[in-house]
Amino acid sequence: MSLIHQVLVPAMYLLSATLFITGLKQMSKVRSARSGNRTATTAMAVAVVATLLQLGLVDYRWILAGVAIGGAIGAFAALKVEMTSMPEMVALFNGLGGGASALVALSVMWQRGYGGGASQTLWTSLGPVSMITVCLSVLIGSVTLTGSLIAFLKLQGKLKKGAPILLPGHHALSAVLAAGTLASAVGLSAAVPGTTLVVWLVLLVVLAGILGVMVTVPIGGADMPVVVSLLNSYSGMAASAAGFVIGNPLLIIAGAMVGSAGLILTNIMCVAMNRSLLNVLLGGFGMEATSGGGDSEYTNVRSTSPEEAAMVLEDAESLIIVPGYGLAVAQAQHAVRELASVLEKRGCQVRYAIHPVAGRMPGHMNVLLAEADVPYDQLVEMDEINPDFKNTDVVIVLGANDVVNPAAIDDEKSPIYGMPILLTHEARSVFVVKRSLSPGYAGIKNPLFDRDNTNMIFGDAKKVVQALINETKELDKAA
Ligand code: TAP
Repeated sequence: MSLIHQVLVPAMYLLSATLFITGLKQMSKVRSARSGNRTATTAMAVAVVATLLQLGLVDYRWILAGVAIGGAIGAFAALKVEMTSMPEMVALFNGLGGGASALVALSVMWQRGYGGGASQTLWTSLGPVSMITVCLSVLIGSVTLTGSLIAFLKLQGKLKKGAPILLPGHHALSAVLAAGTLASAVGLSAAVPGTTLVVWLVLLVVLAGILGVMVTVPIGGADMPVVVSLLNSYSGMAASAAGFVIGNPLLIIAGAMVGSAGLILTNIMCVAMNRSLLNVLLGGFGMEATSGGGDSEYTNVRSTSPEEAAMVLEDAESLIIVPGYGLAVAQAQHAVRELASVLEKRGCQVRYAIHPVAGRMPGHMNVLLAEADVPYDQLVEMDEINPDFKNTDVVIVLGANDVVNPAAIDDEKSPIYGMPILLTHEARSVFVVKRSLSPGYAGIKNPLFDRDNTNMIFGDAKKVVQALINETKELDKAA
């Protein structure tokens, strides 16, 4: 073995693994998240070069063509995608990652299985460890591919507008499918190269693909972020299994990291929604959510103008801004930052309350506000800021809805009952900025709008905030 294979490649793999771990660690803090991204990108570049060196004589024309086409698609998607559509893109990438892992495993099985001669079963020619990891990689990869495609369509609202779909006997059918995929894996292991092997193989891929669809369609609405994160974890596990198949330690490490990070994030989101993972996976959440939140259901709604709100803000010593999905839609982050600066100059303490599932993807609000250079220490997590609402003069809820819905604490029949929320209703005065009384993502009525201390300011978040800035400046001039 050459020096390249014995020393350089393992050293590069070690460097890459270290960089991946460092990058992931950096990404766990808002302040260092950007450098975390750069570190992880460097790790991936080192990994690709090391793998090419390890493979030695490969046809670089194919590799360069792959890099050019894949890179162009990735760059185009990353530049074009709206921040609000990021979960869809992540879902799509997860699916392709899972599919790629399945293809790697299949190609290895094909090469080595046929290499073993026509008389040997795959179990004998590949050996137990490789056979099991090949089957796992194909199974998880196929489930991830089709499950992620369904998640993509649901997030786009192209599949029954994202609502849960539960067929009669759905879970029993999924259990039969799961048993069928396992049986195909056993059949595949016992097959010798030939027609039967191909039949088992096709059966395994098709059944696992249908299983991916079946386990994802019942999950709807508010649970989609959990599914995307879980599928992300699956794609990591599929990659890790593929790493075992081809004997690549870096793929094992990187896959395991994605697998475990995805599971941790899934758990964080389940806790934030007060749901167990099993409850999420069994699906159907929101199917019987009847309270659509139409105007007729509200009896005590009061609306006000930016002018009057500015007058209330004039006396406020403390303000908490609660950003939500509507802030992202309106792209109001820069205007909000300006409003905060104007109020701070008057001596008002301004903070932002961040709910873990506000918006449409993990960290959505942090990313948006960081884009507008909001100081990190003004972004306060839910658990930390919740005790402060009752001592706060004014709260402005900007395009948020579900994450401030008090039904989660006082209506046992509500589909979101038990979900931790931001306790905005405890503040002295609450302004809710949105365009109408329409419900949020969970599709349910929000009793906050009916509370005595709440005033609605109807309109686009950016326009309302700009009006608030103008009114506030006018008041300052007049003073
Ligand atoms: P939502 O409950 O979805 O409410 C957003 C509100 O924004 C809507 O009621 C809408 O009301 C308003 N809005 C839309 N465009 C607006 C604009 N231009 N100006 C002003 N308001 C606008 O948002 P949330 O409170 O952030 O809660 C997030 C929800 O999404 C949760 O149910 C969560 O489970 C789910 N979810 C979260 C994630 C992650 S990981 N963050 C991913 C997917 C789903 P109008 O139409 O009346 O304006």
